[in-house]
Amino acid sequence: PAPGWTIASDVVVVGSGVAGLTVALRCAAAGAKVTVVTKAHLDDGSTRWAQGGIAAALGDGDTPDQHLADTLVAGAGLCDEPAVRALVTEGPDAVRRLIATGAHFDADEVGTILLTREGGHHRRRIAHAGGDATGAEISRALIAAVRAAEGIKLVENALVLDLLTDVAGRTAGVTLHVMGEGQRDGVGAVRAGAVVLATGGMGQVFSATTNPPVSTGDGVALALRAGAEVSDLEFVQFHPTVLWLGPDAEGQQPLVSEAVRGEGAHLVDADGVRFMVGQHELAELAPRDIVAKAIMRRMRETGAAHMYLDARHFGAAMWQERFPTILAACRAHGIDPVTQPIPVAPAAHYASGGVRTDLRGRTTVPGLYACGEVACTGVHGANRLASNSLLEGLVFAERIAADIAAHPAGPGEPVLPDPAPAPLLASEARYEVQRIMTAGAGVLRSAESLTAAAAALERLHTAAVEAYERDGKTAEPCVETWEATNLALVARVLVAAARRREETRGCHWREDRPARDDLTWRRHLVVRLTAHRT
Ligand code: SIN
Repeated sequence: PAPGWTIASDVVVVGSGVAGLTVALRCAAAGAKVTVVTKAHLDDGSTRWAQGGIAAALGDGDTPDQHLADTLVAGAGLCDEPAVRALVTEGPDAVRRLIATGAHFDADEVGTILLTREGGHHRRRIAHAGGDATGAEISRALIAAVRAAEGIKLVENALVLDLLTDVAGRTAGVTLHVMGEGQRDGVGAVRAGAVVLATGGMGQVFSATTNPPVSTGDGVALALRAGAEVSDLEFVQFHPTVLWLGPDAEGQQPLVSEAVRGEGAHLVDADGVRFMVGQHELAELAPRDIVAKAIMRRMRETGAAHMYLDARHFGAAMWQERFPTILAACRAHGIDPVTQPIPVAPAAHYASGGVRTDLRGRTTVPGLYACGEVACTGVHGANRLASNSLLEGLVFAERIAADIAAHPAGPGEPVLPDPAPAPLLASEARYEVQRIMTAGAGVLRSAESLTAAAAALERLHTAAVEAYERDGKTAEPCVETWEATNLALVARVLVAAARRREETRGCHWREDRPARDDLTWRRHLVVRLTAHRT
């Protein structure tokens, strides 16, 4: 839609998690005028839900090189080493700057930060806050800081629709739909020479996910529509231990942090057998993809719908002090981890791929940056190492802010957007996409399941396009219809990549191609849409 009003800024940041707010703070500190736009409220994204913590070589005897080695192993041959090196070497200072911004991490009586372990880490390397409420503390501190900062305008309830570009194809801002009380309603535009996508992930593309309802792939969809390159979408990470709430559980599911295993919890089957022992030298602390696959295999072998995480030996005091959020979530669902093993199963958790960037966070569209889960910087490869995501948001936010400061660019004159850029899908299409993706492109995939998913998604798409072309009808533009449309687009690209990658690697598990094939597939799949409707 054509914008009804326009505001101007030096930088527009889309999204308000750790990545977006850190970019905003660093750009404002460098003197830029920043507008942060976020689809719902400032703390509605994924950051607030992060439990385990943030990985960085902060402990005695730990080094960035050891962190690098663990990250590369988890990434199953597809990490870009220079990106990982930047992450692990700049990580410790980025965490210190976050602390200076106001985040409080758990520490001992002399102030030394307490570190835990998670899957794939050979050392205690994960800083945490409030026991298991790390993301909530980071979110609180960053929101307080942006509210106090000069030069940052915050716009909530603003769904960003599309990128504006000038005649040369350079970023000129975004169009957005603002809704809600006290806001300037309707479709408008923010003109800016730099746009930073920090919109988080796309977990809502599956029926059950740890992601909040707002994680609908909006940034990747926008980038695709803008002609930016997107990479590695087939690598969806399934978290091994999500509280199992029944076979039909849908939407956001409670996470049971890997840190629970880091502190000594055991994964067991219904007979109490620790099935990870002997499967990997790190047993329950093997990288996440290996644990998720082992759980799925055991579920198949035993016909069970879930496995169990047993941490009864922690005792009530440790549960209360170290994992209060998880304890409360379990109890709210009738499970007491102090006296009962916790039923768990894998659920969609993290998009290891996303909008392709270089080491400065630049996408392939000049002036468009991507940061955090929406980005594919190359640090995660085929499977993200636990607790590297908050760190990636911090480190690359600082790199992006430095690049923007080094190359200040006013917005060019935007080419007016197409007044009807796409037929929108009905809001119910969201559930159809989730059903299709869960059946065909979940933790276990095959050529057959992916082909069926691709065909079903194509039918959904074609029906919308045909109705639009036949009588100009499209769903009413609103958050729900845009979200459904974005989910359907990212799902189609994800499935196409998963079909194409005919091997098993990291969190992409093809039952019909069970081996890793380094000869053919040790490479990234990069997608760029040239002509696009939905
Ligand atoms: C967890 O606490 O298990 C999640 C950590 C992560 O996804 O990095």
